[in-house]
Amino acid sequence: MSSKHFDTAASGWDKKSRRVQLAEKISAAIATLPLNKDMDAMELGCGTGLVGISLAPSLRHLTTIDTSQGMLDVLKEKISQQQITNISPIYCDILTEEYSKKHDLIFSSMTLHHIQEINSLLHRFADLLNPGGYLALADLVTEDGSFHDKEAKGVYHPGFDPQELGKILSADGFTDIKSDIIHTISKPEGSKNSYPVFLLTARKK
Ligand SMILES: C[S@@+](CC[C@H](N)C(=O)[O-])C[C@H]1O[C@@H](n2cnc3c(N)ncnc32)[C@H](O)[C@@H]1O
Repeated sequence: MSSKHFDTAASGWDKKSRRVQLAEKISAAIATLPLNKDMDAMELGCGTGLVGISLAPSLRHLTTIDTSQGMLDVLKEKISQQQITNISPIYCDILTEEYSKKHDLIFSSMTLHHIQEINSLLHRFADLLNPGGYLALADLVTEDGSFHDKEAKGVYHPGFDPQELGKILSADGFTDIKSDIIHTISKPEGSKNSYPVFLLTARKK
């Protein structure tokens, strides 16, 4: 989906209970990593901050990155209303624009399938993590292409095989590579169509 689509969807994003439920599951799964208040973290594709706002209290600082200004504006409003002091939202495409800040944790929720050059993205994550830093990636397990509308633009992958992503991470110098199915989405809500979601975690050597 294009950033225009996400700009338009931003104000109603949190109104879909399945998104909020999924974000809760992803946040809880990421929170099983040894997070601490010394960690400087980054979230790629933060959207309205459903995952980031939940994890920020366990971290020193969180940079939330997105390529939809509409999503970032909703997140900024929440930051202001909730008087959150340790989240910095920024508009950036880390594959094409300058971004070199190093982090102790990088996480991402349901964003990878919107990024075409997945190998380049994983290499970027390796570059942007400090030694010993953690990576946590949540996305759809390979599906039949029915999760998004056929006309949707900017959907580059029908989910992923987490084992295959793990092989790329291993070649990029990650260790402790693990993946689990942490949730199954029913879409439309209550239907029999079910889409498993994985969380892949790894540690930079
Ligand atoms: C499906 S939404 C998920 C939002 C949020 N992570 C959540 O779980 O509710 C995908 C998000 O990724 C963002 N996105 C897409 N391509 C991106 C890119 N190249 N860099 C950063 N963000 C991107 C979109 O703007 C959108 O906010």
